Amino acid sequence: MTKEAMTVTPWEVKGIVDYQKLIKEFGTQPLSEDLIKSIEKKAGRSHHFLRRKIFFSHRDLDLLLQEFAAGKEFALYTGRGPSGKTHLGHMIPWFFCKYLQDAFDAHFYFQITDDEKFMYQPSLSLEETNSLAYDNALDLIALGFNPKKTHIIIDTEYGKTMYKLAIQIAKKITASQAKAVFGFNDTTNIGMYFWPSMQAVPCILPSVLQKKSIRALIPAAIDQDPFWRVARDVVPKLGFPKPAAFHNIFLPSLLGPQGKMSTSEGQHATIFTTDTPEIVAQKIKKYAFSGGKDTLKEHREKGGNPDIDMSYRWLTFFEEDDKKLKDIYENYKSGSLLSGELKQILIDKLNIFLTDHQKKREKAKKDLDKFLLKD
Ligand code: TRP
Repeated sequence: MTKEAMTVTPWEVKGIVDYQKLIKEFGTQPLSEDLIKSIEKKAGRSHHFLRRKIFFSHRDLDLLLQEFAAGKEFALYTGRGPSGKTHLGHMIPWFFCKYLQDAFDAHFYFQITDDEKFMYQPSLSLEETNSLAYDNALDLIALGFNPKKTHIIIDTEYGKTMYKLAIQIAKKITASQAKAVFGFNDTTNIGMYFWPSMQAVPCILPSVLQKKSIRALIPAAIDQDPFWRVARDVVPKLGFPKPAAFHNIFLPSLLGPQGKMSTSEGQHATIFTTDTPEIVAQKIKKYAFSGGKDTLKEHREKGGNPDIDMSYRWLTFFEEDDKKLKDIYENYKSGSLLSGELKQILIDKLNIFLTDHQKKREKAKKDLDKFLLKD
C-alpha cells in the first residue's frame, strides 16, 4: 500500500485520514468525555457512535446543549449529494440523526443536492441527479423518521423558497473567500461559486419556516466542515444563529484504511443499500482487507490484528453491543477467531440490517410526499 498524502475536501478524500490533525487544521473542538455524558444525559440514552467517538469533533455543540437545557428547541440538518446510489458510508450521519430526533423530538431538515452534483460532475445530467435524489430519499425515509418533523429538500424542487434565502447569503461571500475555503479556481464553473450559499440555506430554514430563532445542529462527515465555516461567518450577519456542527469520521473503504468508502473507488468494494445478501457476502469475502495471518497455523499461534482489519473496523460502526465487540476483538487477537469467521460476523450483521431496510425502502415509495418540501 502506498502512503498517499491526506486530502480532505467536500469533493475529495484521499490518504490515511488523521482526524486529530483535521481538528487542528479546521479549528474544531474535540468531543470531550464531559460532552458525551451531557448528551447522553439529556437524550436519556446512549449511542455507540458517541461511546466510540465515531462522532469525534464539533462546533458549538456545548452551547446548543446549554440552550436546550434552558428550554430552546434546535433543529437537525444533514444532507446527501445524489451522485449515485446510497451506500452504507452515506448513512452514518443519518443513523445518528435518527437517534437525535428520537431523543430530542427535533425537526429534521435533509437536503438532497441534485443541483450541486449536476454542476460538479461533468458526466451527470440534471435528469440523472434529480432521479437519484428521489431514489436516495427512500433510504432516508426507510430509517423511520417522524414524517411530521422530517423535511426533505430536493434543491431543484424547492428552488423558489431557497433562492430567496441563498442570494442573501451569496451576497456576503466573495470569490476570494470561496477560492480559499473550497479550493475553487479560474476553471471552476460559476455555478459552483454560488453553490455553497445553497448548502447554507437549511442552516437558517428552520428559523425562517418556524418564524423564531432556531439553531441548527448539523451531524455530518468532517469533509463538509468548510461549508459550515462559511455559513457560520455569514448567517449571523443576516440575523440568524450560527449553526452548530457535529463531525463524524468516515466509514473506511473495505479495501483498507485509506480514504473513505466511495463509489468512485470501485463498485466492488462498496456496499450499497440495495445489494443482495449474496453480493454483500461476495464483496466482503473478496475485498475486505484482513488483519489475519497468512496460514491457519500462524493465525492460531500468533493471533490476528483487529486494528487494521476492515471487517473489525466496520463492526465498530455496525455492532452496537460493546460486550460483543470486545469479545470479537479479543478472540481475533488471540487467534481463536479466524478471518473467515470474522468476515461472516460482519456479513450476517449487515445482511440482517439490509434485508429489513430493503423492505422499508420499498414501502417508503408511497410515503415520499409526506416528507418532501415543495414550493
Ligand atoms: N454536499 C453534500 C454532499 O455532496 C450534500 C449536503 C448538503 C450535505 N447539505 C448537507 C451533507 C448537510 C451533510 C450535511 O454529499
